[in-house]
Amino acid sequence: MRLDKFICKSTELTRTEAKKLLKKGEVTVNNEIITNPATQVHENNDIRVDGRALVARKSRYIMLHKPIDTICSNVDELYPSVLHFLDIDKAFDMHIAGRLDADTTGLVLITDDGRWSHNIISPKKSCKKTYRVWLRDILQPDTAEKFANGVQLQGEKDLTRPAVLERVAPKEVLLTITEGKYHQVKRMFAAVGNKVVGLHRESIGGVKLDELELGEWRYLTSDEVANFL
Ligand code: URA
Repeated sequence: MRLDKFICKSTELTRTEAKKLLKKGEVTVNNEIITNPATQVHENNDIRVDGRALVARKSRYIMLHKPIDTICSNVDELYPSVLHFLDIDKAFDMHIAGRLDADTTGLVLITDDGRWSHNIISPKKSCKKTYRVWLRDILQPDTAEKFANGVQLQGEKDLTRPAVLERVAPKEVLLTITEGKYHQVKRMFAAVGNKVVGLHRESIGGVKLDELELGEWRYLTSDEVANFL
């Protein structure tokens, strides 16, 4: 973890305040003055500010039920960030493990543990994400097979990875994918001539969205956290 991030995580200081301390030469790592905020440190390093040893606060892991007209970003844009729902200290120092579009609802995982979120986001990890999808047109009988074989998305070099489609109703399906390309689900249905009119993420790996109201959140259990360790 970056040294400035470690300082924020273990004190009440903001990133800017942490950087100021570093610049002033008030931070030591293993008895050496360090001024570069990007220096990589570990929890077992002896990190001190003004001689006072810092102990990293435990990482936090959260599930949130994302409403529409909110965004999965650390800065507000056209819509506000989902991080505003977190009425906790330093919520905006956390990050979102796998974005949803502004008009998508459902499960969002939020953490300040970059290694943990890497296991969710990295394409190499093939983490499963299941979406409930509402369609404009009736599902065609060959769509499940097409998705199992991979479809060509506009502007992409490779076919999509094998995906599992389960029919729920003529215009409602569950789709499980193991990658997270931009607008992937919407583009997959566009590739077979259909259109997504509603999208909701139900699960990520072994973590299922709890019965939370829109905008509600809770900390993950240790078993849920362990899914991505
Ligand atoms: N695929 C999409 O098209 N949108 C999302 O929000 C998530 C997956």
